[in-house]
Amino acid sequence: MSRNNGRSAQDPSRNLVPCDVSSDYRDARPFVFVIFGGAGDLSRRKLLPTLFSMYVRKNLPEQFEIIAFGRQDLDHIRYRQMIKTALEQSDEVGSPTAGQVESFLQRLHFAYGHFEDLGHYNDLNHLIARLSRNYRMDIVYYLSIPSTLYNQVTSTIEDSELPTNPENTKIIIEKPFGRNLSTALELNRTVNRVFREEQVFRMDHYLGKETVQNIIFFRFANSIFEPLWNRNHIDSIQITVAESIGVEHRGRFYEKTGVIRDIFQNHMLQVLALVAMEPPTSFKAQQVRDEKVKVLRSLRPVSFQDVPSVSVAGQYTAGTIEGVQVRAYRQEENVPPDSIVPSFFAARLHLDNWRWAGVPIYVRSGKRLPRRVTEVVIKFKQPPLKLFKDDCIPLDSTSLVLTIQPDERIQIRMGVKYPESANLIVPVDMSFKYNDFFDRTYVGPYERLLRDCLGGDQALFVRQDAVEASWQFSDPFVEWWEECGCLEMYPSGSWGPDSSRTFIERDGRRWETN
Ligand SMILES: NC(=O)c1ccc[n+]([C@@H]2O[C@H](COP(=O)([O-])OP(=O)(O)OC[C@H]3O[C@@H](n4cnc5c(N)ncnc54)[C@H](OP(=O)(O)O)[C@@H]3O)[C@@H](O)[C@H]2O)c1
Repeated sequence: MSRNNGRSAQDPSRNLVPCDVSSDYRDARPFVFVIFGGAGDLSRRKLLPTLFSMYVRKNLPEQFEIIAFGRQDLDHIRYRQMIKTALEQSDEVGSPTAGQVESFLQRLHFAYGHFEDLGHYNDLNHLIARLSRNYRMDIVYYLSIPSTLYNQVTSTIEDSELPTNPENTKIIIEKPFGRNLSTALELNRTVNRVFREEQVFRMDHYLGKETVQNIIFFRFANSIFEPLWNRNHIDSIQITVAESIGVEHRGRFYEKTGVIRDIFQNHMLQVLALVAMEPPTSFKAQQVRDEKVKVLRSLRPVSFQDVPSVSVAGQYTAGTIEGVQVRAYRQEENVPPDSIVPSFFAARLHLDNWRWAGVPIYVRSGKRLPRRVTEVVIKFKQPPLKLFKDDCIPLDSTSLVLTIQPDERIQIRMGVKYPESANLIVPVDMSFKYNDFFDRTYVGPYERLLRDCLGGDQALFVRQDAVEASWQFSDPFVEWWEECGCLEMYPSGSWGPDSSRTFIERDGRRWETN
């Protein structure tokens, strides 16, 4: 492929004009970014490196300050040293100059505090007031803390002197938003007592991925697919979110979460909403989120008793992945030897609306599967008349494959005549791979979402009603598989329990992602 000024000759971004950058982004106002848990894992590994890389690329306004609020024995100087080390170890950061690092670090501040202690919030408030005294600053609170503390921290913000003015304050909350419907309702009630919905940015980093966003663009920017995007032409939809890693050092977290809460209730249902939604009337936050929530509300409810007939759950045992021997879930750090937490889940879902009535949606997610891949497969119906029925190989129908990670690509799998055969049809791929075409590294999901939040654009954040609809649908699955004690074990390196295969084969189909 020929290259031109670092971009491929065919890269259409050469023709981009400034209006392609959203005005919200250009208009980001000076801000104080207050990170609750600013010395924690997520802050060190993701948030601060992302803010730094935005700073280096001049994607932040001139005036900004960052405060980490936490209980570690730190002060401004020691915190800056901690973040300097984190930046050196981060893959998110390119090769900055020493001057860039130093000037960024000068904007970092540490406020010592326990989240239970109101007095510490008032100390934090004095620091915010001091840092924002010369400019009109937006205040962004980021809850980078265990989700069990979200209610308490938000309530204490309410009781404290910290600013919550809707004109210039926002709050970012990391997933998970509750553990089930009742805790999500409780969290939303607490948050909405202090902040209006337009101040609340619920962050599911999956939605910041370029390829997840592209589901909407692909669908609504190409008129050839939309007429086919319905029950008349589509046989079934599959969504696979496979990880080859196990729980690693997060056993304690995973024991309280499991795959249904960790992946299905949020990432998967959000991807499904993008695949299945009606075209919004505009690309504004409200219209996009209205359409997504309609999809979630049209999921056919599954009662507690019906869960085992439409889903399969399992847990990994020891096995081999890419030639490496790996241990069982029950042998992982901080996991009890009799754990009944599922690391694999597959289900058949239905959307009861006009577009999708009768189209089964198969979802599957697990840890310690053979490879890391997130893929959506749209399987089209067979042609109405089988002209080639004498062929000994059954004709495979056309499918469209949207690969979200690790290789972002779009493929159409179709049948062509095998050369010189009488009527043999073989499947071939027409494939578009992002990296072959666009000669650039994308901004990571955190950057995209932070940028949108600073600019006040909520389109890629999860709205309260969507959180509640997702939990309402997911709760019976979580409860059944947590209570039944009947997980099916699968060896690491396989595609999950045997019954996840037989379950789809009974419907006359097979998993397309392998
Ligand atoms: N880490 C990830 O890769 C990741 C990915 C996606 C989402 N998330 C979500 O992001 C959030 C933060 O994750 P994390 O891994 O960074 O969590 P974490 O390291 O367990 O906790 C974050 C920070 O909060 C502090 N903290 C906890 N309780 C406190 C208290 N009572 N008073 C003051 N400080 C307190 C911790 O201090 P100590 O160090 O002293 O305990 C730590 O510095 C979680 O909700 C998580 O589910 C994390």
